[in-house]
Amino acid sequence: MADTQKTATLTIDGQSYELPIHSPTCGPDVIDIRKLYGQAGVFTYDPGFTSTAACDSTITYIDGDKGELLHRGYPIDQLAGDSHYLEVCYLLLYGNLPSKAELEKFEKTITMHTMIHEQMHGFFRGFRRDAHPMATMVGVVGAMSAFYHDSTDITDPRQREIASHRLIAKMPTIAAMAYKYSIGQPFVYPRNDLDYAANFLHMCFAVPAEEYNVDPILSRAMDRIFTLHADHEQNASTSTVRLASSSGANPFACIAAGIACLWGPAHGGANQACLEMLKEIGSVDRIPEFIARAKDKNDPFRLMGFGHRVYKNFDPRATVMKQSADEVLDLLGVEDNPILQVAKELEKQALSDPYFAEKKLFPNVDFYSGIILEAMGFPTSMFTPIFALSRTVGWVSQWKEQLGDPGMKIGRPRQLYKGEAARDYTPVDER
Ligand code: SDX
Repeated sequence: MADTQKTATLTIDGQSYELPIHSPTCGPDVIDIRKLYGQAGVFTYDPGFTSTAACDSTITYIDGDKGELLHRGYPIDQLAGDSHYLEVCYLLLYGNLPSKAELEKFEKTITMHTMIHEQMHGFFRGFRRDAHPMATMVGVVGAMSAFYHDSTDITDPRQREIASHRLIAKMPTIAAMAYKYSIGQPFVYPRNDLDYAANFLHMCFAVPAEEYNVDPILSRAMDRIFTLHADHEQNASTSTVRLASSSGANPFACIAAGIACLWGPAHGGANQACLEMLKEIGSVDRIPEFIARAKDKNDPFRLMGFGHRVYKNFDPRATVMKQSADEVLDLLGVEDNPILQVAKELEKQALSDPYFAEKKLFPNVDFYSGIILEAMGFPTSMFTPIFALSRTVGWVSQWKEQLGDPGMKIGRPRQLYKGEAARDYTPVDER
């Protein structure tokens, strides 16, 4: 954080307060209000944190106006095009692209951690078959703290690193097991001869009865989906992980909290909600009806997969995802998929509608990811678990960064209290 020597002057009841201004590598300056309450006896007010920097970070930078997303300085379109998920994981975790030897060592480490403790298999059987896989993931990931005691001491950097590796390595296994359990098929163990994305597809779609060969185009698209969802600054679920971690909670509990937050349809649940919306629309001639509903202030309906808190022109991840969608659907011979036709026509009509231009609404990362995942054969209930799998490296990297900050303290926002002033209790027979 560069000290600019610049200050902001706040005047309240004739009294002026000088607030330091800090400048970032890129993005807006920040006004440091840490001493404001002590000096002026006032809080700031920012529900939803639309104008609040909750931390400083070196991991990801987003420019909402330019539609720019950088991971440790590297643009997302270059990473999605030229790198692969585990290399991006290394970049997010350690800050720089790995050498060939570092990458090989990291990939081997992750590969050797993909199995989960055999006794954890019982957790899945405690859920109803029709449980949402996100419920299973929240439960099983939280339960990891009961099995991996040797990586729960957050004061030990080596244990923090082992916990990071275990979470990145085991999340695909847990997600695949949640899927297999929901369809009544046997669990498929991870295979060390497959890369990260191919291993996940194999664990989801292989059956003991026959050989399952992963199509390289599908595993490449899967890997790209993982990369495009890896991290995204201080979004709701990452902020949840940081807040949970600030109390000293163990890493598995913190990531389980992040999974729970991601589940919401306004956040990671949007890809499932988007596909369900496209299916409800059903045909291009019904699109105007839904666009009218999205514009109707009296109708709570929103176009799922559209809009973003930060991006106000386009989501750079959606641009890359759209290319992948075309490749996958072309490979699967479903380029005339009715859902995709509705999606493409909806995008065209929405983007040409003044309302969406004025509100700066456009397809976000979730708009196309759901189409690819459905084409691959995933049920919509697996879309958010795949988002959670992908985002684990982002949560873990931000968790590690926060724990490495000597200035870290427990997060404890204040409030604008609008309830009753103090009043005396009255016994029930006097009310
Ligand atoms: C993710 O933060 C992240 O980085 C998240 C994420 C990540 O990688 O972690 O990028 C992943 O969560 C992507 C977003 C997925 N969510 C959706 O697709 C759900 C649909 N989108 C909306 O719920 C909404 O756009 C949000 C929640 C994403 C963003 O909302 P904002 O920026 O807080 O804006 P808002 O809710 O205050 O809406 C502003 C206006 C409102 O109209 P007015 O009250 O000003 O008249 O835009 C309208 C809203 O009604 N609006 C929409 C809309 N989104 C906003 N109208 C119709 N359809 C929509 N999708």
